[in-house]
Order: sequence, then structure tokens, then C-alpha cells
Amino acid sequence: MSEKRVLLIIGGGIAAYKSLELIRLLTRADIGVRVILTAAGAQFVTPLSVSALSGEKAHGELFDLTEEAEMGHIELSRSADLVVVAPATADLMAKAAQGLASDLATTTLLATDKPVLMAPSMNVRMWLHPATQRNLTTLQSDGVTLVGPDDGAMACGEFGPGRMAEPSVILDAVLKALARDRSPGPLAGRKVLVTAGPTHEPIDPVRYIANRSSGKQGYAIAAELAVLGADVLLVSGPTDLAPPAGVRRVVVETARQMLAACQSALPVDVAVMVAAVADWRTQTAAEVKVKKTQGAATPILTLVENPDILATLSAPGPERPALVIGFAAETNDLKAHAAAKLARKGCDWIVANDVSGDVMGGADNAVSIITAGGIEDWPRQAKEAVARALALKIAQTLGPI
Ligand code: C5P
Repeated sequence: MSEKRVLLIIGGGIAAYKSLELIRLLTRADIGVRVILTAAGAQFVTPLSVSALSGEKAHGELFDLTEEAEMGHIELSRSADLVVVAPATADLMAKAAQGLASDLATTTLLATDKPVLMAPSMNVRMWLHPATQRNLTTLQSDGVTLVGPDDGAMACGEFGPGRMAEPSVILDAVLKALARDRSPGPLAGRKVLVTAGPTHEPIDPVRYIANRSSGKQGYAIAAELAVLGADVLLVSGPTDLAPPAGVRRVVVETARQMLAACQSALPVDVAVMVAAVADWRTQTAAEVKVKKTQGAATPILTLVENPDILATLSAPGPERPALVIGFAAETNDLKAHAAAKLARKGCDWIVANDVSGDVMGGADNAVSIITAGGIEDWPRQAKEAVARALALKIAQTLGPI
């Protein structure tokens, strides 16, 4: 995997807590993270949280002789492929625009020979102030790139531009900034379709049939495939999850919409069907809310079968993906049911998981991979780890382009 490194400068803003999540996302994407925590930043997040997440001590003081002996501040400024400032406060931006070097963070920004990405975060008035806008123009003409800020409600109660970009969006910007000299990854040039989440089948405008799928496993798989360089389209049912970095997402509601979105994505090299598609929908969804009327009979729902997306995509034909992977959520006789499903659906692999515990919505998953060649049992692990292992197995199976 890549040996890329980011030097993250955490400034003193309320959004600093989001930078902890950013460290986690960077680490998960196999990017090494070194952190400089400014004195103001340390008012919001602790050096201990930073070092626990990054696996390295948080750097803070410029005139710390122990630190200087371990790694000089000039060396630190050159130790990464990219310098990321998040949150980039009005103060940090002003100092960087002026070329001040009054602490370790600003000295690093002046001394570095690496590209700099800033994620501004400040009150809307501070952001819109001519001084900040002037500094912004200076920084941009000095070659600094920006991610965000977003529009929205602020911690200070005001509304407007100034919210720091979400960590997943910053990760995306980091990946793009690193992409120029990033090795292409074993799935570069491959198109992959992933479905995830539940589907919602309307009963009337306010009620629907669904299941407990959170979408976490499918989203993690889409994320890991993208990390390996694949061009990933995620067709997602309704979930609370943000789209993973570097993944295109289409959100649908019903099984029929999901099928249509998948078919219009063809041709693809690989299809990974993780969505928990509702097996049935109501024959006709009421156009207005079904009313509960005293004394009237309870409504009877007539259900009809939904299309089977996995079986449809697995059917032989010119557009059949080279590798089609289905999931099997079972509560008993896992392997027997999964093997039967492999044959019934016509797919190449089945990833079988036992959902009798808290897998749906939980953080961990224990899966078995059933192929024509046999069964592999994988240990119980985080859904991200399952996703990583599956993405690597897909890359190995497809081989180089
Ligand atoms: O038949 P069952 O729902 O157990 O099969 C699960 C597998 O089939 C999953 O990969 C799921 O995404 C896929 N599936 C589908 N369309 C359906 C039902 C299931 O793609 N209508």
C-alpha cells in the first residue's frame, strides 16, 4: 500500500473535534498522519486523543529542546507529502498569509516545501470580513488549496459560510491532492458497482415496508474498493451514512429504482450486491394516507415480489459483470443456505453472514466466502476489515488489467 504521509495542523476552533475523525479516516486509508496541535487547538482537543488516534505524539511547542532533538521543526515541515490545516482558523490563515512564524504551526507553514491544503472554519462574519477574504486571495495565489468552508448552522448560533468541511470531504480532497504521485492501486481502471442499505417500499405516502439494514457493510466495501483505485458507483437505499471518499453515489428508495440504477450503470467489471432489498412490495401504494377509521376493517396489504437485482445482474449475457458477488444474511444453516443461494442466483461468490446476533447495524461481522472452489471462513472482525479483505480478494481475483 501507499507510504503517503500527511502533516495535519489542528488550529484552535470548535471544529477541531472533527479533525480527530479526520485522523481516523486518513489512517484507515493507509495514510500516515503526524499532527501539530496549536496551543489554541489544544484547548479543544487533547494531545492524548491525537496521539492515540495517529499512533504518534502530537507536536506542540516550537522551542521544545526534547522535540527539537527528536525531529527538528524544518525536518517536520518536510516529513509529509501534504500539509493539511484543519481547522484553518482566521488567525492561522492571517498569519500564514503574512508569513509569520510565531509558533510551530506557522513556522512549519513557512518552512514547508510541500503542498498545503486548508479547511477553513470560523464564524460567518469572520469569514466574510474583507481581511480574511484578502488573506484568502493571498494564500490561493501562494498555491494553497482549500476545501470548504460549508454553509450551515454554526456552533456560535449564526448561519452561513464558515463551517469546516466534513472529515470525509477533507479526506477526499487529501486523496485528490495526493493523487498526482499516488500509485494507481490494484483496481485502477476497474468499474465496480456496489449496492447497500435497505429499500423502502411505500404503503402510502407516509408508511413503508423496510428492514433493519444500516448500510454500514456495503458503504465500507465501496470505500475500500475506491481506496484500491476502483471507479466505484454506490447505489444506496435510504441510510444515514455519508458517501465514502472517492465514491459516486446514487440514492434510491425502492427495489425497482435500485434495479434501474444498477442496470444503467452497466457495463461494470464487478458487482457487489450488499443491499438488503425488500423481497416484497405492496401491489399498489395508496396515493393518500390510509386512514384509521373507527369500526372499519383493518387494511389488508397485498404483496407482490420485487425483482431480484442480484439474479438479474448474474444472468448470462453480454453485459454480465466478470465477477458478481452476492450476500446471504441467514439466521440458521448458514453454509447450506448460502451454497444453495450461489446456485439459485447464478452469482460467482456469496458472502454469507449470520445475522442472528447484532450484525444488522452493529460494528463487527463474521463472514464465510462461498465460491465454486469451496468455502473460506473469515474471523469475526470490524466491518471495515471485512471490507478491506474482500476488496483485496477481488483485486487478486481480477489480477492486473
Ligand atoms: O435472497 P436473499 O435476499 O437472501 O439474497 C441476498 C442477496 O441477494 C444479497 O446479495 C442481496 O443484495 C441480493 N438481492 C437482490 N435483490 C433482491 C433480493 C436480494 O439483489 N430482490
